Amino acid sequence: MNREHELLTAAIEKANENKSNIKKDPYYPLYHVASPVGLINDPNGWIQWKGTYHLFFQWNPFENSHGAKFWGHVTSTDLVHWKEESPALAPSESYEKDGCYSGSAIAIDDKLYLFYTGNVKNDDQRESYQCIAVSQDGHQFRKLGNVLDVPEGYTAHFRDPKVWKENDVYYMVMGAQTLEEKGCVLLFQSKNLHQWENLGVLADGFGYMWECPDFFSLQGKDVLLFSPQGMEPEGIHYQNTFQSGYFIGEWKEGTNRYTHNHFQEIDHGFDFYAPQTTEDEKGRRILIAWMGMADGFEHLHPTLDYNWIHQLTIPRELSIRDNKLIQQPVEELKQLRGNKLYDRTIKDRWNGEISRTVEWIFKPNDEQEFTLELYNGIQLVYNQREKTLSFYRERLDHKGHEVRTALVEGNVSEVRAYVDRSSIELFINDGELTFTSRIFPSIKNKEMQIHGDGHLTVWNLAKKV
Ligand code: FRU
Repeated sequence: MNREHELLTAAIEKANENKSNIKKDPYYPLYHVASPVGLINDPNGWIQWKGTYHLFFQWNPFENSHGAKFWGHVTSTDLVHWKEESPALAPSESYEKDGCYSGSAIAIDDKLYLFYTGNVKNDDQRESYQCIAVSQDGHQFRKLGNVLDVPEGYTAHFRDPKVWKENDVYYMVMGAQTLEEKGCVLLFQSKNLHQWENLGVLADGFGYMWECPDFFSLQGKDVLLFSPQGMEPEGIHYQNTFQSGYFIGEWKEGTNRYTHNHFQEIDHGFDFYAPQTTEDEKGRRILIAWMGMADGFEHLHPTLDYNWIHQLTIPRELSIRDNKLIQQPVEELKQLRGNKLYDRTIKDRWNGEISRTVEWIFKPNDEQEFTLELYNGIQLVYNQREKTLSFYRERLDHKGHEVRTALVEGNVSEVRAYVDRSSIELFINDGELTFTSRIFPSIKNKEMQIHGDGHLTVWNLAKKV
């Protein structure tokens, strides 16, 4: 058996062995993509190809920590039901021995190409290779090896190729770090996928490393989405260890000229990183992110008892409104709606019982403060005077609560939530603000409380087979 086959087989076995475990875990999600065993992080190679959505992800099947990553693989035809596929890439070759790191997919002439970073670490010495793998059937991938080395003037923190095609030219954005340890995104172009010309820095200006860039046009604007590391907290901003955010601007095609507005954080919760988008066959720009964060509390995730850690977000459709990225749950997720648990007007105070997989929509009355509380301890508080929304959750070390706050423009007219066993995704005002977080409330707790006035609708969510 060759090394690649050996590794892929071992990973599949690991996942199979853990099936009974995850079935028992009350925190294992119902409708989110999560790790079958071990650790997952970034979504990779996100694409709809020949009608089927293919989603790959960074995966360490052998440990509940970061390490020599595989590309795990799931497929879907409806963005609700995900089918587990055999992993696509294993770190079997010398140029990727410490991980097939993040990257993207592109369909060309009936074939599916994956671009990823071959990560090599020897003692303190890092090497980075940008590699291609190709598939005819979307299941088995043949590696074609390295097509791009680290350019001069940059460190080996050079990774996460996102490739697309425009007017017969292939482009690639890369996360990079200068020798002075400044983060940036570099742009490359190619006619043939194998030889890449460096067009230079597309954007830079803060942080020590920019990871997982994604560059796309949306409603006539050019959006650069990326995950910068090394931003200091500033008031309510940049409170997580690492950030994810974007520029909106205009790109002069064929060059690295990109004029854009200021950096905006894309999510305001605790667990959101390395988002990746794709344009699907309906022309929608759909985003999925890692619902995780290197926050030092990973060792306290209760899912470790069941030998897995981390999950991804639900797919979200992107649009631009008032120079902001708007995220809305994809329409297909409405298929999950089962019985309506509540549909009622709330006056002043209300409490009821909900399940652990729910969608709710709360429409507060105009200009009024409110507090929504879930499972005793998860809170969303609207401060009307300061125009802030604050999301509280219990710390995993049980030393009180932690909070993330965002500013609201105008008023809060709608709070929509997707809750799934150990996660919550809040969409405020039709996707103008989002808060994405893992939550691990005590299993028995079913309580939901509202202080305030408005209308509440709650659906129990269930997968129809
Ligand atoms: C982001 C990241 C990427 C890298 C991958 C490794 O979370 O650090 O830059 O390719 O994870 O798993």
